[in-house]
Amino acid sequence: MALARTRGAAASRISPDSPADAGAAVPAPAFADQLVRWQKSHGRHSLPWQNTRDPYRVWLSEIMLQQTQVSTVLDYYTRFLQHFPTVADLAAATPDQVLGLWSGLGYYSRARNLHRCAQDVVRLHGGQFPGTAETLQTLPGIGPSTAAAIASFCFSERVAILDGNVKRVLTRLTAFSGDLASSAQERILQGMATELLPRRRLREEMPRYTQGIMDLGATICTSRQPSCLLCPVQDLCLGRASGAPERFPVKTRKLKRSAQSLSLLWAERSDGAVWLERRPATGIWGGLYCFPVFDSEDELLAALPAALQGKLQAVPPFVHVLTHKDLRLSPMRLFLPARQARTLRLSGDGAWFGRGDWAGLGLPAPIRKLLA
Ligand code: ADE
Repeated sequence: MALARTRGAAASRISPDSPADAGAAVPAPAFADQLVRWQKSHGRHSLPWQNTRDPYRVWLSEIMLQQTQVSTVLDYYTRFLQHFPTVADLAAATPDQVLGLWSGLGYYSRARNLHRCAQDVVRLHGGQFPGTAETLQTLPGIGPSTAAAIASFCFSERVAILDGNVKRVLTRLTAFSGDLASSAQERILQGMATELLPRRRLREEMPRYTQGIMDLGATICTSRQPSCLLCPVQDLCLGRASGAPERFPVKTRKLKRSAQSLSLLWAERSDGAVWLERRPATGIWGGLYCFPVFDSEDELLAALPAALQGKLQAVPPFVHVLTHKDLRLSPMRLFLPARQARTLRLSGDGAWFGRGDWAGLGLPAPIRKLLA
């Protein structure tokens, strides 16, 4: 994709690089005009954080709306403002009060940063939120897109938000086929987002445009089955012209894989029963029954009476692949006569299970494979 300018800024067009699309382009002024007009007539106007330029109210809503739906945020937003009508009230609250009111909204680091941010606004900025996206970003919990939302809504700054909804709208509009897993491609998209912003009557148009692009992404340009026939910019949309707007955005998932080594105690009684413990509800194999798991062979040895340590037999280690992680599993086998099995004292929620018993339990795949 390229940013092509013809006859000055007002005539800038966003055009795809690919020869197949040569000639196609999105006229930036038409996009901004049509979006702003649509926001006035069809966008959302009565959300409690709209119709204000108070940065405290806008900031609070933007933080709550990160990763959380509007319908969930509504009650929390109202309650928060009742308890903390100003940023100074929030700054003076205790962490427990803030977390208590946040309880149920999830992603609790947002609440901790919210509190810190309020304290910084009071301590470092005299109780006034800074007036530019650049300075807003220096505050805890305010990233580039949130800073742009606050600055465009409250100060009409010409800055582009680029959250998930907006990326979807813009990659479809411009048929942007760059992979957004690449930060270089994200930067190109950010440049295009800036190019598309209004250039006139910024005081009125910037808040409208920002709300409009959010509304479009939330209600029309949805990830599945977008309502292109209702879209105010359908005539400009290169993704729609391509016949498959859902192809955009392109993002390959690059998972960061990690590795972990675990030692497993495979204790088996002379009658064939095996010792299994229920795993904690969270973490690897949460809630499943499993051999006792240790971070190392030393830890496993330390959990056994000295008399049993010499009886361990190492089973060849193997790798078990989880979605985000490679587990290197080293089972240590321990055969015990029934009498000695009684001396085995392992902590945890465990018991001896005969074949007829463990077969029906929820077991991690590698444990079931070992037992089979
Ligand atoms: N999501 C993030 N900001 C929003 C806003 N101002 N209105 C609706 N949804 C949003």
